[in-house]
Amino acid sequence: MGRGAGFGKVILFGEHFVVCGLPALAGAVGGRTTASVRRTTTPGWTVTDNRPAVPGYKKTKEDEQRESIEKVLSFADVDVSSHGIHIEFAGNLVAASGIGASAASSVALARALNEEFRLGWDDRKVNAAAYEGEKGYHGTPSGIDNTAATFGGVIWFQRDPAGGEPHFEQIKLKSPVEIVIASSGITASTSQVVADVKRMREEKPKWFDQILKDYQELAEAARQGLQEFDMRLVGLLMNQNHNLLIEIGVSCDELEELVGVARQAGAWGAKLTGTGRGGNMMALTPGRDLQRNVLGALKQRGYEVWQTTIG
Ligand code: MEV
Repeated sequence: MGRGAGFGKVILFGEHFVVCGLPALAGAVGGRTTASVRRTTTPGWTVTDNRPAVPGYKKTKEDEQRESIEKVLSFADVDVSSHGIHIEFAGNLVAASGIGASAASSVALARALNEEFRLGWDDRKVNAAAYEGEKGYHGTPSGIDNTAATFGGVIWFQRDPAGGEPHFEQIKLKSPVEIVIASSGITASTSQVVADVKRMREEKPKWFDQILKDYQELAEAARQGLQEFDMRLVGLLMNQNHNLLIEIGVSCDELEELVGVARQAGAWGAKLTGTGRGGNMMALTPGRDLQRNVLGALKQRGYEVWQTTIG
């Protein structure tokens, strides 16, 4: 049996802007999705999905998951026409929009296939296979989620809009930083939200370009803030990033409530993370005490919450 795992992630800065070719920052979180691949005597492939998930997530993503698995199998050139395989997903990453659940499972599957079929892949090849898998979930992924899910840590990532290899670097933080993640309970469609943002850019190019310019400056400051471990600055910039995401229409009432509660409870910064219009919110909460306070405030409102670290 072949086994593999992929990290969950939060986008610290730059969701959606990264699709437009601007740099973004992501951090892998403690939770992981695991996959195992077992050969069977019957043709075709089957899957058992034992991942913990927010209600409705697996059902909503069922068709996309099938397409994603097909794409990874095809990239790996695994022929299941005479002898098949059984895939099992599990792990401690709670599948929800915004936590990179699709990328984590694609990376886990790529690694499990690599082991079972002795494909000889290194991490770059695993990442490339998972990128194919991400296409099953939304046609034009930037590649940031699968890169974070493969390599872990904090990454600075920029895709090549011309279709070449993306550029990414790992950023070493002085020490891990506590964060809180809360789920809005809504499963968003990444392809739909990305398409809406694209349409908005086409309809109002001047306005959108100004937002991109503001974001570019913010991203560079954020990178420096992370490198210098200036978490107060990083938190302020997260709030500013969230404002830009509101402007491009990817927040929603539930996310605004989550952000408000987290900031009120003392978070140094809070923003939606990932696709938006549902999915998750992340709050920067350096230190165990602050993390506990913010977690408690969000829990009290009945939201599903997790504490973890980045870096
Ligand atoms: C989704 O986690 C992040 C988006 O920027 C899409 C992408 O980067 O492919 C919304």
